[in-house]
Amino acid sequence: MAHRIVTLPGDGIGPEIMAPALEVLRAVGEFELEEHPFGGACIDLHGTALTDETLAACRSADAVLLAAVGGPKWDSTDPARPRPEQGLLGLRKGLGLYANLRPVKPMPALYDASPLRRERIEGTDLLVVRELTGGIYFGEKTRTADSASDVCAYTREEIERIARVAFGAARARVSSVDKANVLETSRLWREVVMEVHSREFPHIELQHVLVDNAAMQLVSSPRHFDVILTENMFGDILSDEAAMLTGSIGMLPSASIAGSGPGLFEPVHGSAPDIVGQGIANPLAMFLSAAMMLRHGLRLESEATAVESAVQRALDGGLRTPDLGGSASTSEATQAVLAYL
Ligand code: IPM
Ligand code: MG
Repeated sequence: MAHRIVTLPGDGIGPEIMAPALEVLRAVGEFELEEHPFGGACIDLHGTALTDETLAACRSADAVLLAAVGGPKWDSTDPARPRPEQGLLGLRKGLGLYANLRPVKPMPALYDASPLRRERIEGTDLLVVRELTGGIYFGEKTRTADSASDVCAYTREEIERIARVAFGAARARVSSVDKANVLETSRLWREVVMEVHSREFPHIELQHVLVDNAAMQLVSSPRHFDVILTENMFGDILSDEAAMLTGSIGMLPSASIAGSGPGLFEPVHGSAPDIVGQGIANPLAMFLSAAMMLRHGLRLESEATAVESAVQRALDGGLRTPDLGGSASTSEATQAVLAYL
């Protein structure tokens, strides 16, 4: 039976990179695809970024493929206005996607596309394991005319399960990133991570790194990292920073997974309102997210590898979209990758 995939093109360049990703998928297999409105596009249609119907469809799918949400049209500081991002957060929470995996492995062909020197980034191969359904993103929020608050909370159980994902994914070392010199949640984080480590993964090296220092080390010695384990907001920030090691944020895929049930696969980048409609969006992070879906979501390892190596060979062959310093359009990039499938 064909795998059922819910596709959420979303906003901005979302639809422009989703369509080519579906071409790539069709080149490696047969899938039952079901598209749903999501984010700002869904606010325009239904007044909310995530409808019950879309959430239900995602729940019963084998995997969910998302492009991007958000845009200036829906930007507002008014807490009463619906926001596209609420759709994404609602979906992560609704599907219980507590583990976000963001691999950062610069491709040799792109070493010179990074703003960092080649010697710095050469050989970098790290994985950001970001906790995705807790912390300050989901704590209680208050707002009056003159004050506002966002609560950052974590439970032992939430930390344990993400720590297990990180240790399980590590080859040699987990760098647990926190702010234990200031935050109470970070002190609990550190305690629980140490417990999981000594009880279940003593053969893996564990180090604790304060988030400010981690931000520095990520550009000064990225090769040092294997798995970076961190909480929701630190992971959000560090993964954008890490993206630049690969040359462009247009290169970074991600997988968000739950203990059971469908995963959500999406590029790390946003909806890029500045280049919408120009046909120049880099679709590679979207293709690589589709590859992560094939591997982690549908257990189609050889199909996943085929997509990844096609992307790599297209880059080796000189493919460069404008974000990588070239002039290839989205459709030229797509053709270049399809040629290797
Ligand atoms: C990401 C994005 C989201 C986040 C936004 C769009 C809510 O930046 O996936 O990294 O902050 O998690
Ligand atoms: Mg982000």
